[in-house]
Amino acid sequence: MQERLKELQEEAIQKVEQTDSLKELNDIRVAYLGKKGPITEVLRGMGKLSAEERPIMGALANEVREAISNKIEAKQNELEEAAVNEKLASETIDVTLPGRPVRVGNHHPLTRIIEEIEDLFIGMGYRVVEGPEVEQDYYNFEALNLPKGHPARDMQDSFYITEEILMRTHTSPVQARTMEKHDGKGPIKIICPGKVYRRDNDDATHSHQFMQIEGLVVGENIRMSDLKGTLEVFAKKMFGEDRDIRLRPSFFPFTEPSVEMDISCKICHGHGCSVCKQTGWIEILGAGMVHPNVLEMAGYDSKKYTGFAFGMGPERIAMLKYGIDDIRHFYTNDVRFLKQFSKHE
Ligand code: DAH
Repeated sequence: MQERLKELQEEAIQKVEQTDSLKELNDIRVAYLGKKGPITEVLRGMGKLSAEERPIMGALANEVREAISNKIEAKQNELEEAAVNEKLASETIDVTLPGRPVRVGNHHPLTRIIEEIEDLFIGMGYRVVEGPEVEQDYYNFEALNLPKGHPARDMQDSFYITEEILMRTHTSPVQARTMEKHDGKGPIKIICPGKVYRRDNDDATHSHQFMQIEGLVVGENIRMSDLKGTLEVFAKKMFGEDRDIRLRPSFFPFTEPSVEMDISCKICHGHGCSVCKQTGWIEILGAGMVHPNVLEMAGYDSKKYTGFAFGMGPERIAMLKYGIDDIRHFYTNDVRFLKQFSKHE
């Protein structure tokens, strides 16, 4: 029996040494150490042994089991380590390979223009505020001195949602909202960029949705000359120190007097060309002194406070600045168009 056990031990260890597969190793474990294995079989014959021999043989059987088990475990570790090493070797990353360049996006040209204009006015002490795009008729028209039935409402064809609610047609309602918030007290200096909506057919110069930037300054002793000076600084910073401005009388219900500002044409330097329609001047924005009715409706005493306001279209400014000939480019977002405004290329 003793010999048979030793034989089994040698046989098993030999098999373990010869294998290099984890599956085979497991088969060996089951075959030799399992309940139906030869060692269990040998031990079954222990009944025939004498009482002295039995513990000796039992101890030997355990030794043999342990020896085989240890050998299997050692082999298993060895095989597992080899597998890991092989995997590591086959999956090595070549860190010297050049990387794939990641394409960097860029700000939309309109975003850039708006940020540039914001920076300019922030530098002059203005705050940037926002207002709702879905607006009440009251703020969009009435509070701006455009009562129901006023003919000038037709200047801005509107998308009405209900009789009293519409998509704002301009950013001017933010003037009324801001003044109202101030409760008739203290100075105001804001600009408000945002989207506006009009029932226009889209073409090269019209879009049913576009951007505006509104400006409003209210205080004691605010004069037309302050407006002119502000607009001049803006125009020269935006378009170049060599550009001139001129103010033409105009009409807006919320300002009195009202003006439109032109800048001198960069292409023909005032001589007349197709861009300025032979006039030498290009219209940039509308402005004026805040109408006393507008101040009063928002709670300001128009005897004590005066103000100026202006409204401009960043698309138009971007078109002039970058020579873009169709407003629809801003909204169709062809990547070839957008890429031209990247800082990275
Ligand atoms: N809201 C006007 C428009 O959309 C633009 C405008 C003109 C705004 C004069 C003003 C202003 O604040 O003073 O046509």
